[in-house]
Amino acid sequence: MTNTLYRSALRDWNIAGKRVILRADLNVPLNYDTHNTHDTTIIDDFRLRSLLGTIDLILQKQGSIILITHMGRPEKPTPSLSTSLLIPWFKEHNYDISYAATPAQVGLLDSPIILLENARFFPGEKNQDPLFAQELASLGNYYVNDGFGVMHRKDTSIAIVPLLFSPEKRTYGLLVEKELNMLTSLMKKPKKPFVLIVGGAKVAEKIALIEHMLPVIDSILLCPPLVFTFNKALGKPIGNSLVDNTALNLCTRIMHEAHAKNIPLLFPSDYLVTTTTLDGPLLTTETDSIQKNETGVSIGPKTATLFEHTIQSAGTIFFNGAMGFINKPETMRGMNALLEIIAQAQGTSIIAGGDSVAAVCKHGLKNHIDYLSTGGGSALAYMSGQQLPGLEALKKRAKT
Ligand code: 3PG
Repeated sequence: MTNTLYRSALRDWNIAGKRVILRADLNVPLNYDTHNTHDTTIIDDFRLRSLLGTIDLILQKQGSIILITHMGRPEKPTPSLSTSLLIPWFKEHNYDISYAATPAQVGLLDSPIILLENARFFPGEKNQDPLFAQELASLGNYYVNDGFGVMHRKDTSIAIVPLLFSPEKRTYGLLVEKELNMLTSLMKKPKKPFVLIVGGAKVAEKIALIEHMLPVIDSILLCPPLVFTFNKALGKPIGNSLVDNTALNLCTRIMHEAHAKNIPLLFPSDYLVTTTTLDGPLLTTETDSIQKNETGVSIGPKTATLFEHTIQSAGTIFFNGAMGFINKPETMRGMNALLEIIAQAQGTSIIAGGDSVAAVCKHGLKNHIDYLSTGGGSALAYMSGQQLPGLEALKKRAKT
């Protein structure tokens, strides 16, 4: 499925004795108790393992690494989302790594890898602050972005910091190279019919991307929680389920456009719902019977059967948007049933996004899926023809 349109310049760099700023997406699924960070565990390390090729290459070239990532969407420093929680994983994998709570601390440490605190703990990360960009840029001699899952964001460390390096000192890493080559080749001539299965919680942004993908897809299977915004736009009951009221008109437009283009939009016929806490106990409810006090967390068993035929006859299946809570097995029933159908299908299967890939790995289906992408929203954005700010910044004229 691959070609080699993208090639990381890192392969050719001579960086012995130099410091490389490595922006990654280590936003891994975590199992944590907000009150007790000692018990935090990494549910799935796919994004960590996927970065090791680039880390190893920089170290082999005798460069050192200033590793930067975000975790979650904290509005202020939150101990349960500190990158220090990732340090034991690197140590267990024999990497000599230290943690720096602030950019200023980086200069006091001399390990081959220095992991900076969660970039989103610093107010400058989200607001494209030029001073914060300069502070980060001053930490290294070279810049590599290997955070494919976050390439679609305009955060300072992604879209501004690279501009402070001359073009020959900035590039994307081996993971981004692989993801872009894979997805480019996939989109060049996707095997038809192309089935898009989309769910998850980042509702408004994903719905917008569905619209952009209409020219290339042949059918869309909508899953919770995203589907509830469509259901609300149709005037169907949604109970307490997650809805993005800002996307209702967009949903209506997409339904019209899909209808005009003859693209079937399949809705679940039943849901797994809860009436108390989000993780259970679960009931199965028909779509039109969701009660006011019920929250839809996943598809029900009838829906899996309903979707099965479309998935089995697909030439390409792209799935993004996990349902349920990966650390609560009961809530993963619908997701697992769907994954099993995808795993058995003959078409080329692509599962994209941190939680979706984690569900595949946890359910033991990793070897039955053709391609696992570390990026969820970013993969969708790229496939729908959007520019990725992280990639664009690497092409722009430098501000030095
Ligand atoms: C992801 O998990 O999709 C990426 O890490 C991006 O995270 P964000 O949607 O919070 O920017």
